[in-house]
Amino acid sequence: MNGMFPCYATAAFGLEGLVSRELKELGMADVAAENGGVRFTADVAGMFACNLHLDVCDRVFIIVGEQTCVSFEELYQLVLSLPWEKYAQGAEAFNIDARCARSRLMSPRDCQSITKKAILDRMRKVRGLSRFPESGCDFSVLVSIHADKVRVLLNTSGDALSRRGYRTWNGEAPLRETLAAALIHLSPWRVGRPLYDPCCGTGTIVAEAALMAAGRCPGLRRRFAMEEYAFCAGFDFSTVRREAESRFDREKPFSIGGSDVDPEAIELARRHCRQAEMEGRVQLSVGRLQDLTMEDQGGVFICNPPYGERLSDQKSCRELYRDLHALQMRNPSWSLCAISSDPGFERAFGKRADRKRRLYNGRLECTYYIFNAPEKRNP
Ligand SMILES: C[S@@+](CC[C@H](N)C(=O)[O-])C[C@H]1O[C@@H](n2cnc3c(N)ncnc32)[C@H](O)[C@@H]1O
Repeated sequence: MNGMFPCYATAAFGLEGLVSRELKELGMADVAAENGGVRFTADVAGMFACNLHLDVCDRVFIIVGEQTCVSFEELYQLVLSLPWEKYAQGAEAFNIDARCARSRLMSPRDCQSITKKAILDRMRKVRGLSRFPESGCDFSVLVSIHADKVRVLLNTSGDALSRRGYRTWNGEAPLRETLAAALIHLSPWRVGRPLYDPCCGTGTIVAEAALMAAGRCPGLRRRFAMEEYAFCAGFDFSTVRREAESRFDREKPFSIGGSDVDPEAIELARRHCRQAEMEGRVQLSVGRLQDLTMEDQGGVFICNPPYGERLSDQKSCRELYRDLHALQMRNPSWSLCAISSDPGFERAFGKRADRKRRLYNGRLECTYYIFNAPEKRNP
């Protein structure tokens, strides 16, 4: 299908601005950030570029329709009025998800079944279908209802975009890939500068930084739901993938590394970097951050230290935050960025951050602290 579509890129709270910037950099039109996501306009090529390249966004949707609905009948009539026959053929497996918040329609299960009935009724009426074998590809629709405003969305991504495909094993408190990418974008790090995670766990931050440094787009090795959709059948996905592949620089040197006290975590970090096609390019080792000194100058530490959620752990976590400050003082040309849910982070660290940002790690409210390099020449 040719033409432009109204689209919606979902993002974790606090990251809408970053997604909006990335969409503009990709050349998308009508970009407008809202709470929880960013609206924009794109054709099939643009949506595919978003799925391949956006590294902070959760999923990319087409807005099939939207309207205020306060009854199930209104919801049924809205979904029935939408042109599903343009997107689907009828053999697809129609998967409907619904989310309701602060609305009169508050039963996701009922909204799901009404939406499915309305889509199938529409296909029956317009396409003259009598059977829906659901043997084809997944056709995944999200009905999002907030303050009575219904948005009917077609998922073009499939699985969340955080699933790049390289992380196959999770450690104790892994960071979602999209949040790790956001921490990097919000930091003073830019490609060409050294980056180090002194408590890297399973290596999400260093793997994401390596992808950026090598120009390997995050979605390169995974498939997206839109690749199976009937209305996208004429689009040449493989040529675009080949172009993205050609921009992946397998030789470009960079200084990205990490360490952790836990040898098992480092084993997993090595596996993840290998699976991200960065074997041997990210320096990983077992070690305490208290013993760390850097050879490079002018780099950026980015880390996700333990938060001390349980009171029993809080004391040792706060000692670790103080040790992070000592690490930066031993390396005064380095900036340091850390995310934590502990409101006592700055006090324990022993210094007020130069910049702060409220972010969510899953459902946990956190703050991202950015401490500029004490030596003035680096931000
Ligand atoms: C929240 S996890 C980091 C998770 C990581 N971002 C990931 O994606 O897997 C915190 C890490 O800090 C490590 N850690 C705790 N104390 C440390 C220390 N003194 N030196 C280095 N690492 C430490 C833990 O072993 C753990 O892997």
